[in-house]
Amino acid sequence: MYCVKQMRDDLYWVGGTDRRLALFENMYPIPRGVSYNSYLVLDEQTILLDTVDRAVTDVFIENVEHVLDGRGLNYLVVNHMEPDHCAVIGELALRHPELKIVGNAKTIAMIKQFYDFDIDTRAVLVKEGDTLCTGRHTFTFALAPMVHWPEVMVTYDTTDKILYSADAFGTFGAMNGNLYADEVDFGREWMDDARRYYTNIVGKYGPQVQALLKKAQALDIEMICPLHGPVWRRDLGFFIEKYVRWSSYQPEERAVMIAYGSVYGNTENAANILAGRLADFGVRNIAMYDVSNTHPSVIVSEAFRCSHLVFASSTYNNGIFTPMETALLDLQAHNIQNRAYALVQNGSWAPNSGKLMSGILASLKNFDQIGKTVTLKSSVKAEQEAQLTVLAEQIADSVKAAQ
Ligand code: FEO
Repeated sequence: MYCVKQMRDDLYWVGGTDRRLALFENMYPIPRGVSYNSYLVLDEQTILLDTVDRAVTDVFIENVEHVLDGRGLNYLVVNHMEPDHCAVIGELALRHPELKIVGNAKTIAMIKQFYDFDIDTRAVLVKEGDTLCTGRHTFTFALAPMVHWPEVMVTYDTTDKILYSADAFGTFGAMNGNLYADEVDFGREWMDDARRYYTNIVGKYGPQVQALLKKAQALDIEMICPLHGPVWRRDLGFFIEKYVRWSSYQPEERAVMIAYGSVYGNTENAANILAGRLADFGVRNIAMYDVSNTHPSVIVSEAFRCSHLVFASSTYNNGIFTPMETALLDLQAHNIQNRAYALVQNGSWAPNSGKLMSGILASLKNFDQIGKTVTLKSSVKAEQEAQLTVLAEQIADSVKAAQ
C-alpha cells in the first residue's frame, strides 16, 4: 500500500523507510533505520527527483504510481548515482517509455556502468547552471562533486525556492511519520545520527562540501530536501551552521573524548583515572568509549564533535591494539584536523602503541599533542597515577583556554 506525504499542492514525498537494514553501505550500524527520500512534482510535465534503494522498491513504485494517478512520468533527475538512490531507474524506464533521465556527463556514464538499459535515447545532459522548465517550475542544476561521489549534483527549484540537496543535509534514521525537521526534536533525537552520517559519509570531503555551501549561499532557499532523513523548512541556519563547522574541521564543542583499547582492564583503569581527574579539574560531559565495543563510525563522529581527544591503548603484537588501530586509521581516512590529543600506552614487556598512535595522529593537520605520553607497564602504579593527574590538568587547562 502506498505511503506518500503531500508537501505542497504539486509536491509529494514518495520515498521509503527501512528499519530492517543492519548496516548502511554494509558498514555503518543504523539501529534507528534509514529513509530514502524521493520527491515527485506534478507540473505540466511530471518530474521525479531521485529514486530509492532496492529495499523499498515496492512501496516506492506504489507511491509514484499513486501520485501520478495515471499520468506519465516525463523526467527523472538523478542527483546521485549511488545505488541507495538509483536502484529503481531501470524499473521506471520500463514502466514509462516516455521517461527522460536528467543527469550530468558523469551521471550518465555511471548509469551505463551500473545498468544495461538504453540510456542514450533518454538522457538529458545538464551542466552547471543549466535550467529545465516543466511548466510552472524551473529547475536549475549545480554540480557538487564528491559530496559524496564525483557525479553528485543538486537541483534547485527556482519557482518554489526548494533545494534538492542529494546526500548533503541527510541523516541516518528512519522517519517516524514526521517528514519535517521542525516536527521532531532534532537536537535530541537526530543530531547524533546526523553527525555520524555526515562525518562518516562525506567527512573526508570538507573542501567540496564548502564549495557546495558557497553555491547554496547564493540561493534563496525556503526548503532543503535531502535524500535521507527529515526535510528542512524552518531554522535552516541551525543545520547549515553544523555543516560549516564540520566541513572546516572545527570542533562543535570544547569537550573531551577518551577512547581506550584494553585487553584485561588495566588500560581502561588508566582511562577511568584520567577521566576522574579531568572531572576534578572542571571538565564536564566527558565522553568515554571502549573501542572494542564501539563502532569506529561513533569514534569518528565524536572526534568531529570534541575539541580534545585522548587515546589509550594496549600494545598488541608489537603494534596498536587492533580495534584502536582501526579507529585511528578511520579517523585518518576522514581527514579530521585541528584537534588537541593526548596518549596513554600500555605494554607488559615492550610498550609500543604510543609511538605508533602518535605516528598516525601526527599525519593529521593541526593535531597537537598535549603533555607526554603516559606509559603503563601492565597496570597503573603510583608513578603513572601521578602522571595521569598531571596530564589531566594539562588537558583541562587546554579545554578551558580554548573556551
Ligand atoms: Fe545516500 Fe551517497 O548515497
